[in-house]
Amino acid sequence: MKRIFLVALLLLPALLAVQCTQESPKTAEEEKAPLESPLQRGEYLVNVMGCDDCHSPKIMTAHGPEPDPARRLSGHPSQVPLPAITDKKMVAPGEWVLFHPMSTAAVGPWGTSFSANLTPDDTGIGTWSLEQFRKALTQGKSKGLDDGRILLPPMPWPQYAHLKDEDIVAIFTYLKSITPINNPVPAPQPPVM
Ligand code: HEC
Repeated sequence: MKRIFLVALLLLPALLAVQCTQESPKTAEEEKAPLESPLQRGEYLVNVMGCDDCHSPKIMTAHGPEPDPARRLSGHPSQVPLPAITDKKMVAPGEWVLFHPMSTAAVGPWGTSFSANLTPDDTGIGTWSLEQFRKALTQGKSKGLDDGRILLPPMPWPQYAHLKDEDIVAIFTYLKSITPINNPVPAPQPPVM
């Protein structure tokens, strides 16, 4: 009995030492250490910032429309025409804004806009540089070009303009890694009235 007590007593400092190392405060380097790679961060941001909501064609499921994994982030499908707007008064400024059931196209006072192809195909962002992507998100320039037109609603670029640069890099890194899908999204159309 005495011997067991002695062994326990001898082990105590070792146990305390382990305890102390575990609780030692993190160094500045450890605090700053990235928890995830830009690719992982980009995937996380694309998922939580709702890019799929507008940029992914949908399939109907028991829970309602969901992004189609086979066409993820490829924009409004070029072969899907929009139904005719029979009552033009409804989309007059101050009246209704209409969304396609896949939420990849919208009609409002700005005209008709089609969500862009964000996959790394030539019909998407395949040929884009990081600089172009940054300009599209922070200055709302179409194709990220200096002389590009200003992106139309409902693309929420005025909010994305506040993104930290490392997050823009992460989103771009992730989008460049997804499956390229060939889909030339239609050009926007002027207001119907
Ligand atoms: C509420 C809908 C909506 C959401 C959410 C959205 N977008 Fe968009 N986005 C659009 C529409 C519509 C366009 C096309 C606008 C136009 O043609 O002027 C667009 C255009 C773009 C463009 C420009 C493409 C080009 O060819 O110039 C980029 C880049 C882009 N979106 C990236 C994103 C990213 C990244 C996210 C998520 C972080 C996102 N968008 C979320 C609707 C949306």
